[in-house]
This record gives sequence, structure tokens and C-alpha cells, in this order.
Amino acid sequence: MTVSSAELQRAPGPTAVVTGVGSHLPPRRVTNDELCARVDSSDAWIRERIGIEERRRADPEVSTGDLALEAARRAMRSAGVPDVDALVLATTTPDHHCPATAPSVAHRLGLRDVMAFDVTAGCAGFVYASGVAAGLISAGSARRVLVVGAETMSAIIDPDDRATAPLFGDGAGAVVLEAGTEGQDGSLGPFVWGSDGSLADAIVIPAGGARERHRRDTAPAGDFFVHMRGNEVFRHAVRRMARAAQDAVAAAGWELDEVDRLIVHQANGRIAASVADALGIPPERTPSNIAAVGNTAAASVPLLLAHAADAGQLKPGHRVLVVAFGSGLAWAATTLVWPPGVTAELQGPVRPGA
Ligand code: UT7
Repeated sequence: MTVSSAELQRAPGPTAVVTGVGSHLPPRRVTNDELCARVDSSDAWIRERIGIEERRRADPEVSTGDLALEAARRAMRSAGVPDVDALVLATTTPDHHCPATAPSVAHRLGLRDVMAFDVTAGCAGFVYASGVAAGLISAGSARRVLVVGAETMSAIIDPDDRATAPLFGDGAGAVVLEAGTEGQDGSLGPFVWGSDGSLADAIVIPAGGARERHRRDTAPAGDFFVHMRGNEVFRHAVRRMARAAQDAVAAAGWELDEVDRLIVHQANGRIAASVADALGIPPERTPSNIAAVGNTAAASVPLLLAHAADAGQLKPGHRVLVVAFGSGLAWAATTLVWPPGVTAELQGPVRPGA
């Protein structure tokens, strides 16, 4: 059973309000030309078909938790808060199968005994995690929550696979959500979310999990990397994100032409453009950083929020529509009015294009 957009509403308790934004990118840049020394592709193809010029790669000893820690620190500095009650970490690339990565990030932040857990919803993970955090705040279980999206996609990408290697990048972004009141600038609107597990194999790491443990010793090395049916995923991404975005706007009581900024998961420049086009939102209202960072999966939305805020593309009072889609398949969308006085804390500015 699904809840229709007309029925969607915020829970009756306090509303989650964005009070800080931070991001972190590993310093190593990998250009298309460098990548194509190994992958059967070209700079021209990657620019034209995906919109990426370069992506970041973490050094092998740097983990998702390390990137998350830096972004989380910056988000807390941006919010001007010394601690939080909970940390929700969205990632497809946890440091370990067990335990979750969030508790160790919380520990390294000096947060003692706080609620901390991971959320796995692929590239939709950060929006899912934000919805979960907003629910914790509405329920009175937490007053202040760090929501982090962090990925070392390089850990699960076959460097020789042209279907995935050009696409994905590493990075992390984070926001602080605090209890506030409905209608306050920065407050998150109702969340629209969904999944379609009939397409679970469209983006999958075949081996290494419980399902395929019987061939742990016999699976080819490539089965421990992500496999993606890109073209099929592309079509679902556009359809699902456009629909979820429409529903989130309706649930917020807005009209589509009132949306000042569309923050859409940076899956592929053509996917983002198609979603914006389907919604009738012009390119100048659709910030993009995919050229500089690639598809950073669960880190994509908070990285774009941070980069767009830093570049002055998110201004106080802007009506912002946020939507993401990824493996699962899973998708989620929400809205907010960009708050005054929130300055993004970045490691190295990235100027988003539009
Ligand atoms: O983040 C959430 C989950 N992921 C996504 O949302 C990603 C969604 N998918 C995509 O972004 C795109 O499907 C890709 C970038 C992965 C692939 O682009 P495409 O335009 O869908 O390519 P395609 O698979 O339909 O292939 C078109 C052509 C084929 O050649 P022929 O058969 O037309 O001669 C492919 O062999 O492009 C070829 N091709 C490439 N050529 C150069 C596919 N990948 C590459 C490549 N370099 N990397």
C-alpha cells in the first residue's frame, strides 16, 4: 500500500530544520583522459553522454568513514553546534559489512553513546536518511541529527568496466537537522519515497553478500564489483524521479513553477536534464556539479547542496526541490525553503554549472 501525495504530511511533532551543511572531497582528481588509459572509452564520449570532466578518487587507505568524518565535522561547524543526538549515515560503500560505519564516525567526532546507524538506499540514501532523521525529530527521539552521505565508490568499481568506471566518484556531504517549527525557513517538507525490488539486479554487486556466500571462493573477481544495466536504469531514473518530485511538490502545497532550485541526484547530466525538462524547470534553476565530481551516489545530494550554497546558487528564501534515485531500485524526494545564515563549509570549492 502506498500513501498518495494528497495524504502525505509531516508528522505532528517538531519539524526538521537544516541548520548546517558541509562537504569533503578527496584531493586526487582523475580526468577522463587518465581514466581512458585503462577503460575503452573517450573524453568526448564521457563528456557528451554523462557530462563528467573529472571525478575524485580516495587513496586506497582512505575509507568512507574517513570522508564522512570530514564532511560531518564541517556540517557541525557550519551549524555552530558542538554535538548531536544521532548520526544517520547513508552509504553504498560501508567500511565493513559489519558493523555499521556510523557508530565509528560518531565516536571519532567525540559523540558519546549517541544513536548511530547506516541507511542503504543506493544513490537515494541521503534523501532516505534525511526522511528517517526528520521522523526521529518529529517523534521526539532526537532534537539534533547529523545526516551524512558518503561514498568510496572506487572500492566497488571495476577499473576496467566502461559501464561504471567513468561514472562514479568518491566524496561526502552532510547536513545538521534540528527540531524547529513547520513553516520555519529550512524546514523539510513531507517526504515521498518508494522502491521497486523487482529490479534489484539492475545495479548489483553479485558476490560477497549472504545471497552468494556459497560461491565466496569460486566467484570471479569481477562479481565483487558493481554491475549495472545502465540504459535500463537511466529510463527508470528519469520516470521515478520526475514522479516523486511532482508528488513532493504537491505534498508541500507548492506548484512546480514556484520551484526556485531543483537539486537532483547527479546520476548523469542527461538524466538530470531530462528530469528537469519533465518538470518544466529551466536549466538555470537546476544547479549541477557532475562535471567536477561525477556520480557520487549517496554523497551526491549533500555535495550539491554544499557546492550550490557556497556558489550563491541557493539563496535564503529559495524554494528547493530535492530528488534522488538509485539501486534497490529506490527513490525519494522532499522540499525545503533555503534558510538564511547557513554557510556551507567545504574542502575546496566546486563551482556548479547550471
Ligand atoms: O546513480 C544512480 C544509478 N545510476 C544511474 O542512474 C546511471 C544511469 N545510466 C547511465 O548514466 C548511462 O546509461 C550510462 C552512462 C551508464 C551509459 O550511457 P548510455 O547512453 O545509456 O549508453 P548505452 O549503454 O545505451 O550504450 C550506447 C553505446 C553502445 O554502443 P553501440 O552499441 O551503440 O555501438 C555502447 O557500447 O555507447 C557505447 N558505450 C560506450 N562508449 C564509450 C557504453 N559505454 C561507453 C563508454 N564509452 N563508457
